[in-house]
Amino acid sequence: MSDDDSEITGSDEVEVDGANGFSGNFENADLGDEESNQGLFDDLLSGEPIFENKEVLRPSYTPHELPHRSDQINKMATILVAALRGETPSNILIYGKTGTGKTASAKFVSKELESTSQKYSVPCDVEYINCEVTDTQYRVLAQLANKFIEKNEARIDERIDELQSLLDDLEAYDRAIDVDASSDDPDDRTASDPFDFVSEDEVDGDAETSTGTDTGPQSGDSPLEKGGSGDRTDSSSETEPAALENAADGPGVSGDGAADPTPDHPLASTPFDDRDEIEARITELRDDKDSFEEVPMTGWPTDRVYSVFFDAVDYDERVVVIMLDEIDKLVEKSGDDTLYNLSRMNSELENSRVSIIGISNDLKFTDFLDPRVKSSLGEEEIVFPPYDANQLRDILEHRSEVAFKGGALSGDVIPLCAAFAAQEHGDARRALDLLRTAGELAERSQSETIVEEHVRQAQDKIELDRVVEVVRTLPTQSKLVLFAIILLEKNGVHSINTGEVFNIYKRLCEEIDADVLTQRRVTDLISELDMLGIVNAVVVSKGRYGRTKEISLSVPLEETEAVLLSDSRLSDIDDVQPFVQARFEN
Ligand SMILES: Nc1ncnc2c1ncn2[C@@H]1O[C@H](COP(=O)(O)OP(=O)(O)OP(=O)(O)O)[C@@H](O)[C@H]1O
Ligand SMILES: [Mg+2]
Repeated sequence: MSDDDSEITGSDEVEVDGANGFSGNFENADLGDEESNQGLFDDLLSGEPIFENKEVLRPSYTPHELPHRSDQINKMATILVAALRGETPSNILIYGKTGTGKTASAKFVSKELESTSQKYSVPCDVEYINCEVTDTQYRVLAQLANKFIEKNEARIDERIDELQSLLDDLEAYDRAIDVDASSDDPDDRTASDPFDFVSEDEVDGDAETSTGTDTGPQSGDSPLEKGGSGDRTDSSSETEPAALENAADGPGVSGDGAADPTPDHPLASTPFDDRDEIEARITELRDDKDSFEEVPMTGWPTDRVYSVFFDAVDYDERVVVIMLDEIDKLVEKSGDDTLYNLSRMNSELENSRVSIIGISNDLKFTDFLDPRVKSSLGEEEIVFPPYDANQLRDILEHRSEVAFKGGALSGDVIPLCAAFAAQEHGDARRALDLLRTAGELAERSQSETIVEEHVRQAQDKIELDRVVEVVRTLPTQSKLVLFAIILLEKNGVHSINTGEVFNIYKRLCEEIDADVLTQRRVTDLISELDMLGIVNAVVVSKGRYGRTKEISLSVPLEETEAVLLSDSRLSDIDDVQPFVQARFEN
């Protein structure tokens, strides 16, 4: 049983009901049928809510402020600012124990990076991948390929819209000229920037701001940026890798020595000479868009996925930051090929540059990396140390201001949550879970404030939830072994040995038609359960009978059994109880 309503409401019930403001004057204890206008939710609703905004305590919430992480955040920013200058940032490896704010900080920094890049129109894309979910090279590359295809398509659409409105402007202009019967020579214009077409009003007096899209890591010939006419030899195509501070050097309205254009001609300072060129460019962009092929989630050879990904990234001038969270999971599951491929991409990319941020709570994973990958990935390392109790207290206080109604927290609650979580390796996630759960328990017991006792109950509940989750996700064979141990304990067998477990296990396998593993394998599974903290197995010497394991359950029996029986394969096993019993009687 993971639900604890009954347990919590038990002792407080009478007192709390009294404070509850029911409108009728009936006895609290028995709600007769005549009170049926009190619906199921009425009494729950009538309690004072404790939370103002519970969402800010959930793991999915990315806080705007991260106390005690400014060193790490500043270091990341110092490295990544290169991307805003059109340079390639060093790769970064971030590591630290669970709940130390790695993901939250990295997401915070990437949000800032993207919004700054938009502000200055510097092409920089950040892609976040959680490798616990996306855990093979194929999936990582496919996900990245599809994301960049999507981005390319969006940019192409934008460009086509721009070109379309340029055509409209041109038409309007020509009509006006016709009306004026004036004889402006349309060839007498300057196309100063082959990489950018700027609409008339942008050019007007504000050339700097229009240069943004001209920035990029390379002088480049991005297919997206390049004008349709191949005959341009404009000098501004040779501009330096763009830097923000260079932005003012962007396209002027004169540049290649051609005669000054009519300043308000729609094609002035565009790379196009006439309508045909614009239309050809639109066709070219449409063809590009049609040529993109989305990568299916399975089925292609990996090199094909890689090449689609590569082309999609290189289609456009930009700096790309790829954030691989839980990178150790990727390496564990599928080796270091992905990292190898990503880290050597830059030598082959023509238009774009890639930089990698790897995040891990297990530094040992780098031992499995090819030395080249290891040194490339770890160009910069940032360590996230565990929080101490005082730091956790600050974090909780920041969040609780928004999360709770004023006066809902009694003074000792935050320090206690912080202290519990500090024992759990300084884990902020645990601290926030505790605080949220304590609030929920207080709310359910219709208490108006959260008190120390709620925190202690929350601690027990979280621990039990952890066990439930671990047991629920065990493979079937381990569940059978665990169930055998539970049946033995239920039947009063103490100091259970492996042979006894194996006998019951075999019987259980027969019941549900599962393969029977060897006793040696079952012994291994018992050791695994021991490592997970579900059972305790100690080796004892039995004199001339050799050594054996004495096994006991280290988690609550009934709850664990309930979780096992909730597995559809195991749910029939209930009936073996008499069999087990009989077995011990003889
Ligand atoms: N300095 C902080 N200020 C506010 N909240 C924080 C801080 N550090 C962590 N948190 C919060 O704690 C929780 C866990 O943080 P986060 O997910 O960043 O941990 P992590 O280091 O990525 O852990 P893991 O290695 O398990 O992925 C999140 O809800 C996050 O918002
Ligand atoms: Mg994380």
